[in-house]
Amino acid sequence: MTEAVIVSTARTAIGRARKGSLVGLDAFELAEAVVPGVLERSGVPAADVDDLVLAESYQGGGVIARNIAVRLGLLGASGLATNRHCAGGLSAVTIAAGSIRAGMDKVVIAGGTESLTNAARSTKRDAAGQYQPWMAPSHPNTPEAPAFDMSITVGENTAREMSLTRRDVDEWTVYTQERALASIDSGAFVDEIIPLDVTRPDGTTIRFDTDEHPRRGTTLERLAALPLLHPELPNATVTAANAAGLNDAAAAVTLTSDDYASVHGLTPLARIRSWATAGLEPALTGLAPTLAIPRALDRAGLTLADIDLFEINEAFCAVPVAAIRKLGIRPEIVNVNGSGASLGHPIAATGARMVVTMVGELRRRGAALGCVSMCAGGGMGAAMIIELI
Ligand SMILES: CC(C)(COP(=O)(O)OP(=O)(O)OC[C@H]1O[C@@H](n2cnc3c(N)ncnc32)[C@H](O)[C@@H]1OP(=O)(O)O)[C@@H](O)C(=O)NCCC(=O)NCCS
Repeated sequence: MTEAVIVSTARTAIGRARKGSLVGLDAFELAEAVVPGVLERSGVPAADVDDLVLAESYQGGGVIARNIAVRLGLLGASGLATNRHCAGGLSAVTIAAGSIRAGMDKVVIAGGTESLTNAARSTKRDAAGQYQPWMAPSHPNTPEAPAFDMSITVGENTAREMSLTRRDVDEWTVYTQERALASIDSGAFVDEIIPLDVTRPDGTTIRFDTDEHPRRGTTLERLAALPLLHPELPNATVTAANAAGLNDAAAAVTLTSDDYASVHGLTPLARIRSWATAGLEPALTGLAPTLAIPRALDRAGLTLADIDLFEINEAFCAVPVAAIRKLGIRPEIVNVNGSGASLGHPIAATGARMVVTMVGELRRRGAALGCVSMCAGGGMGAAMIIELI
């Protein structure tokens, strides 16, 4: 069978939405910064790129991928936009891998781009013919699964379903902050990040090359003092600290067939072993990784014990803690570089950012197999198994 291999990875550093370094860039500009970088790192001639698949969540329904292909002169690469909410960037990679494994495309750049700072504002015509502000809901709005408040739909519901306490999720919050900061301080992300020269609102230009969401000095005591988002709920757990951040970033990988890599003298970094998605009722969205991970493992002919590293996105810290408990994963191999609550969660970029970081961490450790997984609004989940070459 034709294999889909990753020959290069790249991402921007992750900015804090509305108050951080990337507020001046929209999702187009973030993608425009990453796509040429990942192509250059791959050694693939631009003319050989068959397609560009980019996830986008809140950008008004265009096809950013085509726009970027045109801007960069990749005119022969058509361009495809994907949206699976928080799993969109991972789904972009699976679409690319699927086409390559099917013997169709040979080279595809895939990833995601998100500027939550500059998300498009939609309107919809009401019965009186007036246009009103409108946002596409991820699922039908219900009290148990509010369509626009994931802190209940994902955070609180996951904690309640798995009997997690505020202390359980706050302990994970301290852990993920420590892991993210240790990775930054050790330079672990230097190779994956493409530095950007960005002009700030005050007119000064800075080089932005370091994730800015992680918070130093996160302790259990400080977390315990933070207000709950939903104090009206019994046994509530969610605070600003144990929720994912609102962020801006882009990430991408170059995928080729194993034959293409070999014929063109490229050095593959990793192969995509398998992937899976899962669906369940929207009120239990946060448990979706517990379905997607076993499915992806099964498709690869692997078991949990074979996996060296997991990243399970912290849409809310309850999500990885729930997956660890439900599946019986060793916590110390989960989110070793941090994740959504610490590094940040630029929605459509997150899945691709996780692939980029997983490839880097597998290489740093000389480990063989990694699994990335996340839940996604509306009762969805996704997982992918990546093997170092
Ligand atoms: C939860 C949420 C509303 C908080 O937004 P916010 O108020 O802008 O959050 P901030 O990061 O600015 O934190 C607010 C305050 O909490 C405190 N805080 C946050 N993280 C902290 C930490 N790790 N340690 C100590 N204090 C912390 C700080 O006092 C901070 O204020 P400051 O920045 O002035 O110091 C927002 O992040 C959110 O909506 N997250 C979920 C996103 C989501 O749903 N994604 C999809 C998943 S399905």
